Amino acid sequence: MSEKFTKSMSRNIFYGGAAFFFLLFVALTFDTTRALPERDHRQNITEQVAFGKKVWEKNNCIGCHTLLGEGAYFAPELGNVYTRFGNSKEAIMAFIKGRPVEGIQGRRSMPQFNLTDEELEAVAEFLKWSSEINTANWPPNVQG
Ligand code: HEC
Repeated sequence: MSEKFTKSMSRNIFYGGAAFFFLLFVALTFDTTRALPERDHRQNITEQVAFGKKVWEKNNCIGCHTLLGEGAYFAPELGNVYTRFGNSKEAIMAFIKGRPVEGIQGRRSMPQFNLTDEELEAVAEFLKWSSEINTANWPPNVQG
């Protein structure tokens, strides 16, 4: 091996490295595009799930809650609330209906949203759907 590190050697490393990482980038992008529809199970988005998402947006649930880590840190993570509530849409609906609960020391309460039964059921269905996204086990515990 020559002792000198020549200009052409460094050029080769630069072009070789750039080409390698560009190809890696393309391959990983392709892999992500292929894997996503399976992970977010978008084929299961029913009309009710879509309507639930609208209810979610209209009432700005994300203004207090996070959904899979995105959102505000005022109130609990809801990406796995369906699991946390024992795989029960009814429990979620009863919770939302029963708020606010005032006067518990050191605990904030969620306001009342006066959702119709249809809206309530849809937002619960949306949260059920969200809990079934393959997040590679995130958040790591059910309290999430
Ligand atoms: C103004 C802030 C705020 C908004 C907006 C809000 N929440 Fe909440 N939510 C809370 C707080 C605070 C709690 C936890 C305290 C409590 O009420 O027991 C909570 C708890 C919950 C829980 C139970 C979570 C658990 O693990 O105990 C669910 C389900 C929930 N909210 C759903 C919703 C939905 C759906 C919306 C939109 C329609 C929404 N929240 C909008 C503040 C909010």
